[in-house]
Amino acid sequence: MEELADPRGLVQSATHARGLAYCPYSGFAVGAAVLTGQGRVFTGCNIENAAYSNTVCAERVALYKAVSEGCTDIVAVAVVAEGPAGPRPCGSCLQVLAELAPRAEIFLATPDGCLERTTLPELLPQPFRYRARNEGPR
Ligand code: THU
Repeated sequence: MEELADPRGLVQSATHARGLAYCPYSGFAVGAAVLTGQGRVFTGCNIENAAYSNTVCAERVALYKAVSEGCTDIVAVAVVAEGPAGPRPCGSCLQVLAELAPRAEIFLATPDGCLERTTLPELLPQPFRYRARNEGPR
């Protein structure tokens, strides 16, 4: 897959989405943006809930927005949150990335300028698979 030469626009979209995070419980704002092969960008922020387990992560909001609009060709993903380095997506988000964006380039960034480029196989070498290895979804 062709590499995204300049991820800054996608990181900027994720940073904007981070500003919309609804996180009154943790106070930890996360933004995400996914880029499709057609050049469309879908953004997401984390959305928490008083019943904590209903919280959804920024990455999944962005991915589900894209897929629910018929855009399944996701070529790059950016995630932005504060920290000493770019945020590591949680295990649930990695599993969803394995399903919906297994070959996407992944950019992990902080608001103050850290930016790392990685891949899903690096972050989650052995995702759970429902069907036998080498078989795609039905
Ligand atoms: N969070 C994300 O949005 N993405 C992740 O990959 C990990 C965690 C959110 C969920 C919750 O609102 C807050 O960060 C603290 O866990």
